[in-house]
Amino acid sequence: MHFTLTEEQLMIRQAARDFAQQELKPGVIERDEHQKFPAEQVKMMGELGFLGMMVAPQYGGSGMDAISYVLVMEELSKIDASASVVVSVNNSLVCYGLEKYGSEFQKQKYLIPLAKGEVIGAFCLSEPEAGSDATSQRTTAVDMGDHYLLNGTKNWITNGNSASTYLVIAQTDASKKHHGINALIVEKGMEGFTVGAKENKMGIRGSDTHSLMFTDVKVPKENRIGDDGFGFKFAMSTLEGGRIGIAAQALGIASGAYELALAYSKERKAFGKTIADLQAIQFKLADMATEIEAARLLCLKAAWLKDHGQPYAQASSMAKLFASEVAMRTTIEAVQIHGGYGFVKEYHVERLMRDAKITQIYEGTSEVQRIVISREVLK
Ligand code: CAA
Ligand code: FAD
Repeated sequence: MHFTLTEEQLMIRQAARDFAQQELKPGVIERDEHQKFPAEQVKMMGELGFLGMMVAPQYGGSGMDAISYVLVMEELSKIDASASVVVSVNNSLVCYGLEKYGSEFQKQKYLIPLAKGEVIGAFCLSEPEAGSDATSQRTTAVDMGDHYLLNGTKNWITNGNSASTYLVIAQTDASKKHHGINALIVEKGMEGFTVGAKENKMGIRGSDTHSLMFTDVKVPKENRIGDDGFGFKFAMSTLEGGRIGIAAQALGIASGAYELALAYSKERKAFGKTIADLQAIQFKLADMATEIEAARLLCLKAAWLKDHGQPYAQASSMAKLFASEVAMRTTIEAVQIHGGYGFVKEYHVERLMRDAKITQIYEGTSEVQRIVISREVLK
């Protein structure tokens, strides 16, 4: 067992840290306030190779490991979780699924521009009436011979308006239940595909979350991923890796808030000394540091298992469950350590607290992670 990072991993972590400080931090409060998508910053992250980190170089990616992905996600999320969710979705829900299960045609046409960051992707599973209960798909993809006719609505889609390539899960044969579900690649601009209004959210306000409507959209058969009826397994298998990304996002939100609270506690004076001299504050910092370290180890363990071709569903759910709950607890305490200053935007911790909440909800709520983990431990 090694607890040291390689030279390459240290370099990529430093590159992400520098990028976050120099390019994400300056406009992060304004983007949050005005719900502005970080388009310019996403373009730069594409140029740095952050959008197709684990994709093989022959398909336009950076060919890195999942450990590096966790390191980058943590650094970006310390500063801007609205930007890091783009990285997470593009890498682990879109590029991973296409590289692992897509045809050569799909890789050439769709994966390469996605991995290079020339375009971004979206993963469309949730519906108004199918969130945790993901097998209850109402969106239909009727088999018309050479194409599918797609009808229905998807909800809460991250990168909903900014993406060019959408992986859409839909029911082809309801009599087969989840064995009758398919995953289709849909392009922005296909006739009958419209993007709904942007959601006005509590957190990750820079991320563009939209509903999507499909009315008789003709999707060529060659755009189906895998065999007929593979769509639900595709979604579940892809989410295993996605949950590592969101776990690392939660870790970053927690460690970002902790670093701010630590620094502030050494500056702020009360009763003739810094608040860091008060044991009440010291104990908060000790708990934060301990929980963050445990969350980091769970994230790295899940990534390590993935890198070594071992099963990682349970590990990624444990990492997401724990890290997201740590993100919530840590950010609440970081606001507390800042006192009244924590309640205003300039000090960043209130945004991190709002952003932390989503990590307990998307890519499977904390309750869903407990379902996955309990099924594994009871096997
Ligand atoms: N890999 C492959 N197949 C899997 C699998 C996995 N990890 N997990 C389950 N399956 C298969 C099962 O084997 C089963 O197939 P068979 O019948 O052939 O054996 C099938 O999928 C159905 O599995 P379950 O019986 O376990 O299904 P369930 O109805 O009990 O649901 C669940 C299980 C874990 C709750 C699942 O529905 C789930 O994960 N729900 C949450 C959905 C979710 O995470 N959505 C996230 C949307 S994306 C997003 O949120 C992005 C973002 O924010 C940025
Ligand atoms: P529900 O499933 O209705 O759950 C409501 C409550 O009931 C939750 O507390 C839940 O944990 C609990 N619950 C439900 N079933 C059970 C059970 N069996 N046991 C115990 N408790 C249960 N989806 C996508 O497909 N793509 C995206 O890009 C995407 N991005 C998102 C971005 C944002 C900002 C948000 C808010 C959501 C996004 N989602 C996306 C959707 C997200 O994955 C769902 O919101 C999530 O899976 C929960 O589904 P739901 O909202 O329908 O809640």
